[in-house]
Amino acid sequence: MSQEPSIQDVAKLAGVSLGTVSNVLNNPMLVRPQTANKVLAAVNSLGYVRNDAARQLKQGKSQALGLISLDSTNPFFGDIARAAEDAADLSGFHILQASSSQSPERQKDYLRMFQEQRLSGVLLSPVGDSSELRAQAESVGMKLVMIDHQSDERTSCSVSVDDIAGGQMAVEHLIATGKKKIGFVGGPLEITQIKDRLQGARNVVDQNPGVSLRVIPATRQDVISGREIGEEILNWNSSDWPEAIFAANDLLALGLIQAFRMEARVRVPEDIAIIGYDDIDFAKAAIVPLSSVRQPAKEIGATGVRLLLEEIEGEDHHHQHINFQPELVIRQSTVIK
Ligand code: RIB
Repeated sequence: MSQEPSIQDVAKLAGVSLGTVSNVLNNPMLVRPQTANKVLAAVNSLGYVRNDAARQLKQGKSQALGLISLDSTNPFFGDIARAAEDAADLSGFHILQASSSQSPERQKDYLRMFQEQRLSGVLLSPVGDSSELRAQAESVGMKLVMIDHQSDERTSCSVSVDDIAGGQMAVEHLIATGKKKIGFVGGPLEITQIKDRLQGARNVVDQNPGVSLRVIPATRQDVISGREIGEEILNWNSSDWPEAIFAANDLLALGLIQAFRMEARVRVPEDIAIIGYDDIDFAKAAIVPLSSVRQPAKEIGATGVRLLLEEIEGEDHHHQHINFQPELVIRQSTVIK
């Protein structure tokens, strides 16, 4: 197999020094145009590709930040990623995106790969306990900032939303519309955000005698899972159906609406009201516009990058745990308009 062309090959073909080739690639304003053109002609003719990993290894750090979300198919994380990219770009950094798909093993693999690539830092929406991950990253000098996850660690920053308050406002709204038999669809509860939403729901139910809460577990938080759980509920005796469902995120809620509407036997919200969480763009566009608890995804992404860059720069940095407040958004899936 022919060896990849090296920077030495480029310099030899262009008849210039290694330093001149490096300047053309990294600081072109330092090189006369005709010299630069000779080097670029040699680069193209040889098909030379700069080895960023080697360059970054020499410099000890890279201009890239990692972003590991729980589920890259979830528009909530897409909104976070877009805001993170825009914020990173303003500081001359790029974002490399990955998704753990709720797998601790995959999460660990990506963290290891980002460490090998000498990334300066990573934004992580963690699966399971994050303290071990932080120690692993710290051991190789890679900064971690937790996003969409409240951390009380003193060793790094985090950006989150008060999910207990969010769960409380979702169920308070359902009760205010007259619903008393409430279902919670969500999980796994190892995901702190989901556990906190359920805790918020329980706090409100405990304060409202006559209101009941039934937890209907989910292993994944996507539309398919929501539709499957909706079909499962439809197979129950209708007297066991909840009057309202608080879904742990909008994708689950949209799946539930699909199941109920496709069956056409269940009216939303008259028979079963549904509220989600995140307020993704699809929520307002759903066949029954979805009530939701809005998370400020764009602010989470931009703030995560700001804190991570402060961690990386390090001077006089004090770790912060920024916790945004969620916002109730009421639409037709809970209130007939
Ligand atoms: O990060 C866990 C959950 O929080 C995801 O499902 C996402 O939708 C957000 O609501």
